[in-house]
Amino acid sequence: MKIYIENLANFVGREITLAGWIYQARSSGKIQFIILRDGTGLCQCIVEKGKISNDLFNKLEHLGQESSLTITGVVRAEPRSVGGYELAVTNAQIIHSTTDYPITPKEHGIDFLLKHRHLHLRSSRQWCIGKIRHTVIDAIRRFFNDNGFTLIDTPILMAAAGEEEQTLFEVDYFGEPLYLSQTGQLHLECAAAAFGKVYCFGPTFRAEKSKTRRHLTEFWMVEPEVAFIDLDGLLELAENFVSYVVSRVLQDNKPQIETLGADIAGLENIKPPFYRLTYTEAGEILTGEKTAKFMAEQITQLNQQKDTIEKRIAELENEQKGQIKQWKRDKNAAELIALRSDLDEVNIKIENNPKHAKLAAEFQWGKDLGGSDETIISQMHDKPVFVTHYPKVAKAFYMKTDRTNDKVVLNFDMLAPNGFGEIIGGSVREDDYDILLKRIEEKGLKPANYDWYLDLRKFGSVPHGGFGLGVERTIAWLTGEPHIRQCIPFPRMMDKVYI
Ligand code: 4AD
Ligand code: MG
Repeated sequence: MKIYIENLANFVGREITLAGWIYQARSSGKIQFIILRDGTGLCQCIVEKGKISNDLFNKLEHLGQESSLTITGVVRAEPRSVGGYELAVTNAQIIHSTTDYPITPKEHGIDFLLKHRHLHLRSSRQWCIGKIRHTVIDAIRRFFNDNGFTLIDTPILMAAAGEEEQTLFEVDYFGEPLYLSQTGQLHLECAAAAFGKVYCFGPTFRAEKSKTRRHLTEFWMVEPEVAFIDLDGLLELAENFVSYVVSRVLQDNKPQIETLGADIAGLENIKPPFYRLTYTEAGEILTGEKTAKFMAEQITQLNQQKDTIEKRIAELENEQKGQIKQWKRDKNAAELIALRSDLDEVNIKIENNPKHAKLAAEFQWGKDLGGSDETIISQMHDKPVFVTHYPKVAKAFYMKTDRTNDKVVLNFDMLAPNGFGEIIGGSVREDDYDILLKRIEEKGLKPANYDWYLDLRKFGSVPHGGFGLGVERTIAWLTGEPHIRQCIPFPRMMDKVYI
């Protein structure tokens, strides 16, 4: 009977067939260990000489990495084996024999891996991230569907900007310019007046000139929008929502989080309430003594980490020079790849620390928080932080002015903890016709493009608001992946689109 690796537990003692690809294989001449990958998991298959024909034994021994085949055998529990089960092989059928698979356990740079993303998707890391992405997206839909929200599909081709005009992608629409959607928010506000609680979820496009680890030019965003809600209500919705997504990933993907080495205890701590700071308080933190001390302690810790990693690298490199078994050599090679990328990360942090400390100390009220400011605030917290009430001058035209202090708007960013930074941006929307019109004009936008949007403030205007959560940034935070390009199957970045 053909089964999937994820169901092996139900077939202990029985003969079954798996279909998949060779992930790794080694042979002692008498016994072969084939790690099979079938898309649902990994399973070590033990092929003993004498238990199958010599001809088949030899053929299997010569199969390269990523050859495809079916393997039949008897399932046994083996806690020391990957996945906890093994297959004592009784038969096999080769489907496609492969040689020279380009991605091997030896070191590959990120550029090489991105160029080979069509194949690299099969790697354990990409597979784990893909599984977590699936859960995150399912949890997003489940949360809103179960909480009375109606899904509204907003358009991708747009006549005017929803966010900064500088990041618009222009499309030739029968000789006229249109733009790829930067947000579904403005259309969603129309729908909120029709359905009360709504959300949209789709690809979002921004011609971001910044080549950072947090920016893609095509990313996925989910945006809820609610009629009759204030800032406190939005924060509560956002913290319940993010806590639910985290709990679902912990429930469905613990083995993947473990494989990725992400922080399970840290994620288990993600429960409401999250921290709340105003922008002004955030500024006081950034320029305060506590931050200066924190940054100094951080550089000491980073240097210690660097030492530890370098020592381990030297140890492994030394081992590689000697006579060691092939499987040990491959294992060491894989560890070296991981260590070298950790070392790169630590070196970047060491280089950035003084720059970030300087930027924080130079914080000026009125400017948007920079990526490094967000990093510092979020490093100082073990749970997500809401930063609210940003200066009006630094923010989008649609954000509602605080009626008790017209220098600030009723908005928030949610910063993921431990240095990750912004994953959500949201606000209460300006619901007064005259103030909104003035804001559109102040931002140099054409009011004629926003007639329909202004209409919402003419016909039954109500307090309302919403937010947008970036899917890739959320996954990067949950998986501990430093760069969001690893959190979408086929990333689009400013400098390169590979596949
Ligand atoms: O803060 P942003 O720009 O907010 C909006 O677009 C609002 N219209 C949302 C709303 O209120 N309905 O973007 C929201 C989130 C960010 O916090 C971030 O997670 C993600 O979208 N994001 C990006 N992710 C990857 N690459 C980029 N270039 C991103 N730009 C924003
Ligand atoms: Mg933002």
